Amino acid sequence: MTEHTKIWHWYSSIFLILVLVVNIYRILSNVSENTRISDPPLIRNVKWNDINFVHTTDTHGWYSGHINQRQYDANWGHFVSFTKHLKDLAHSKKQDILFVDTGDRHDGNGLSDITTPNGALSLPIFIKQEYDLLTVGNHELYEWENSKQEYDIVVQHFQANYISSNVEIKLDNGTYVPVGQLYKYFVTPIKKAKVLSFAFLFDFTRNNPFTKVTPIREVLNQDWFKKTLLEFPPEKVDLLVIFGHIPVSHNDEELFQLHQFLRMYYPTTKIQYFGGHSHIRDFSVYDENLTGLQSGRFCETAGWLSINLTAEDGLQSSDQIKRTFSRSYIDFSLKSFMHHSNISTIEEFNTNQGLMVSKQINDTRKELNLDQIIGHVKKNNYFMDYVPLESPKSIYTLITKRILLALESTNKNISLSEERLIIINTGSIRYDLYKGPYTVDTQYIISPFENDWVKLTLPKSIAVKIAPILNRREYIADANDVNNMKLLPEHQYSQIIKGNYMHLNNPIIEDLDQTILRYPIPERFTSHLASNANKGKSKGYVTHDDFGHDGDDTLHRAVVNYPITNVVQAEQLSESSNDADVDVIFYNFITPNVLWGLKEIGYEQDVSDNIEFYSDKYLGLLLNEYIKDHDI
Ligand SMILES: *[C@@H]1O[C@H](CO)[C@@H](O)[C@H](O)[C@H]1NC(C)=O
Ligand SMILES: *[C@@H]1O[C@H](CO)[C@@H](O)[C@H](O)[C@H]1NC(C)=O
Ligand SMILES: *[C@@H]1O[C@H](CO)[C@@H](O)[C@H](O)[C@H]1NC(C)=O
Ligand SMILES: *[C@@H]1O[C@H](CO)[C@@H](O)[C@H](O)[C@H]1NC(C)=O
Ligand SMILES: *[C@@H]1O[C@H](CO)[C@@H](O)[C@H](O)[C@H]1NC(C)=O
Ligand SMILES: [Zn+2]
Ligand SMILES: [Zn+2]
Repeated sequence: MTEHTKIWHWYSSIFLILVLVVNIYRILSNVSENTRISDPPLIRNVKWNDINFVHTTDTHGWYSGHINQRQYDANWGHFVSFTKHLKDLAHSKKQDILFVDTGDRHDGNGLSDITTPNGALSLPIFIKQEYDLLTVGNHELYEWENSKQEYDIVVQHFQANYISSNVEIKLDNGTYVPVGQLYKYFVTPIKKAKVLSFAFLFDFTRNNPFTKVTPIREVLNQDWFKKTLLEFPPEKVDLLVIFGHIPVSHNDEELFQLHQFLRMYYPTTKIQYFGGHSHIRDFSVYDENLTGLQSGRFCETAGWLSINLTAEDGLQSSDQIKRTFSRSYIDFSLKSFMHHSNISTIEEFNTNQGLMVSKQINDTRKELNLDQIIGHVKKNNYFMDYVPLESPKSIYTLITKRILLALESTNKNISLSEERLIIINTGSIRYDLYKGPYTVDTQYIISPFENDWVKLTLPKSIAVKIAPILNRREYIADANDVNNMKLLPEHQYSQIIKGNYMHLNNPIIEDLDQTILRYPIPERFTSHLASNANKGKSKGYVTHDDFGHDGDDTLHRAVVNYPITNVVQAEQLSESSNDADVDVIFYNFITPNVLWGLKEIGYEQDVSDNIEFYSDKYLGLLLNEYIKDHDI
């Protein structure tokens, strides 16, 4: 063979291989095209009815959307466009639509938390969305500056639509007034439905002294409340809307009392609850004419609820409820928003007002320098609970095995031991850490809390017992209100509460049609994760609620929330003896839990005076430094 023919042979075989590859590719892609066509659509439609609601809660400043997570790519400007289209659609269907928010608008995102006071630049963005009903969350009440700001910016903007039936604020002249209105009575514009509405915050006690929270059970006995109910008897009320910053869980004692009370005045009136605070998607059936919706957290979810005002009675109760009420959890994504708006191009979707809000977000981010890159997350996503606690992809592993080891004392006046334990409550982490640029914003997303570290030196035999005792799961409510389970992230805590409820014999639930409330939980671990049916689906919520598991608009591969402990710890111990000194380091705010734990262990010495300031370099700052200098 000449050199030429050799090369020619070469070329022709490569050509043949290429043809083969292209054909195989064609065949394969045809197959997948075909399966795609026969697949069900990946977004479930919402059900429209006489009155439709869109509900947000616990937005915590996430108005920029989820920059490192494409499945929640919509920002607040897109939401503003979305609700405009929904309103147009509702009116073209001769139906009503109402927008509701149930509080917690900062603590969780750079956009809200980098300013002083936090919320100063994010609330002006939030209020660009129209709301018919909105109320206050506990995060508006920790600091006085935040309460004042809520009153000055949000209450003044929404006026009669801002309701709080049990939270008051102190004016400059010393008088307490409700944050907003005590209630709202109105007639809907299209269906002319008469609606009476109240708003409640759960029994919150850590509010600043210039605000007052009256527990629901006390409001039930207040004259103004009873007078209002009598002023609007059942014939004047087609629908009661009770919304607030309180989880819609079945074993919530406060909602239970409220429910009993309201039913004395309104035995058969339709009632709808909207709740929040525990950061989950949830829907509860309380009785045949009363359901509750809770719409997640962090601009991951826009809750949808619709009510048929004329649904007939006389059917089996489960059918009856499902004919009257319908719920969906809409992913906070452009894909979902455009789908439900019945609009296919982004140009048509964005309204002028929506674009203005997006621009305001962009400008604010620039002004606050939120996109300044500190480092990069390249190797993994680090999850709070989508992986077991021991996994290298657990954010807690990252924190205890690496980040916390860099903590140093900034207090020169204390003596340090050779060995140390650093205990941190898992609720100090607010969100997963996703691959992508790690920016100024990310620090606030992962851990916005600016706590001081403190140190207590103890014999090793005692020190090593603290974390295990804090991780015990029984409910403790001692005189100092120490409940160790509250050291968990909100959504983990609420799962425990919901799990407990399964073991309680709640009389309301026993009365109801079992098929509604006792849907079997599908095999999430096996079928959902492994099955072929998950092709093309992103990981996300598959919510199990009282109507089953078809509520999520976007079909996801189910994420599994693994149980995590109340606290985790970084260990820097050696082979020393059991009575060697060990420095136990923890955030100052869990001091009551640690002192409780020591008593529980049987350590009788009073150590409360031995707790010393250790460092003010809180977790967010440690994360920044570590990620700046390391590949993770
Ligand atoms: C304080 O101001 C509010 C609102 O202006 C008013 O309603 C209230 O009567 C005042 N209270 C006193 C004690 O002056
Ligand atoms: C639910 O509401 C309907 C319509 O108002 C009424 O006929 C029915 O009795 C109510 N059901 C219960 C259990 O109160
Ligand atoms: C509401 O219920 C009534 C009575 O069952 C029914 O005729 C009507 O079609 C329902 N409306 C919607 C929008 O589903
Ligand atoms: C969606 O829009 C198309 C075209 O604009 C229209 O024909 C169709 O009826 C709409 N669908 C719904 C459910 O409104
Ligand atoms: C806001 O910034 C994003 C990302 O840089 C960009 O895609 C978008 O077009 C901007 N929006 C407006 C309204 O300026
Ligand atoms: Zn919250
Ligand atoms: Zn809350």
